[in-house]
Amino acid sequence: MEIINRRQRMSSVSRKVRREQDRTIGLVPTMGALHDGHLSLVREARRLCDVVIVSVFVNPTQFAPGEDFERYPRDLTKDTAVLTDYNVDYIFAPSPEEMYPKNFSTYVTVEGLSEQLEGNVRPGHFRGVATVVTILLNIIRPDFAFFGQKDAQQTLVIRRLVRDLALDTEVVILPTVREASGLALSSRNAYLNEEERHAAAIIYRALTRAESAYAEGERNGTKLAGIVRSTVETEPRARIDYVSVTDADTLEKLDKLNDRTVLIAVAVRFGQTRLIDNLVLNRKDGAK
Ligand code: PAF
Repeated sequence: MEIINRRQRMSSVSRKVRREQDRTIGLVPTMGALHDGHLSLVREARRLCDVVIVSVFVNPTQFAPGEDFERYPRDLTKDTAVLTDYNVDYIFAPSPEEMYPKNFSTYVTVEGLSEQLEGNVRPGHFRGVATVVTILLNIIRPDFAFFGQKDAQQTLVIRRLVRDLALDTEVVILPTVREASGLALSSRNAYLNEEERHAAAIIYRALTRAESAYAEGERNGTKLAGIVRSTVETEPRARIDYVSVTDADTLEKLDKLNDRTVLIAVAVRFGQTRLIDNLVLNRKDGAK
């Protein structure tokens, strides 16, 4: 396994893999602090692709001032050790100056999908995500890129940008990986103390209560959101940022769900830590 820090070296290595060796490339973009959620992406990349590249880059442009950019967990040595065990071929770990050279001034905005939910609470977040993902896809030109369903809105933004900009990469979305309590794995779980971690399991309990109500025939979006909200509110440590029930592809707010595929998405704070999670109901492809 080689660790690459330079854009140019990364481009030339991947060009060689594609052209001279005619091998497929799978990219797993990450911000490091790897957990089993990331590793499920790496495993699938390993299964589908000849060469696996994991990018590790805490992307400054997707953090608003006052967010956790400075304290976001970073441990490249540990991440490297983990990825060695997973038989990854390359880690791409550029510096911020390498990714955003002097006078960088080109940003990618996916209009419409970027403003609500997370975008509403974190203005500019998806512009940063869309920009860095576009740069990564252009440097590496992977056949497949792997993302987790936990960041549901991010997956929609990325799918849309890949389609709109005609990027030659297939986006693969894999299910959220959870602790036994139901808590979705996230690098930010590292911020939680013991009590908060225990309390945070309420999020998935709330989502699954709404899922059960849906299975029993509830088709009113406001009512499903109410079930999630009232369940989360039973936990005194939880402070809700939003609970939303929307079309799973367009993020259009839904009241009457009818036969639509529905995304229930939540953001909840425990102390200083903000967690997001979601469930998709009535998925037409049968995936969870
Ligand atoms: O999901 C993440 O870790 C990040 O948003 C991503 C996709 C690596 C872009 O920085």
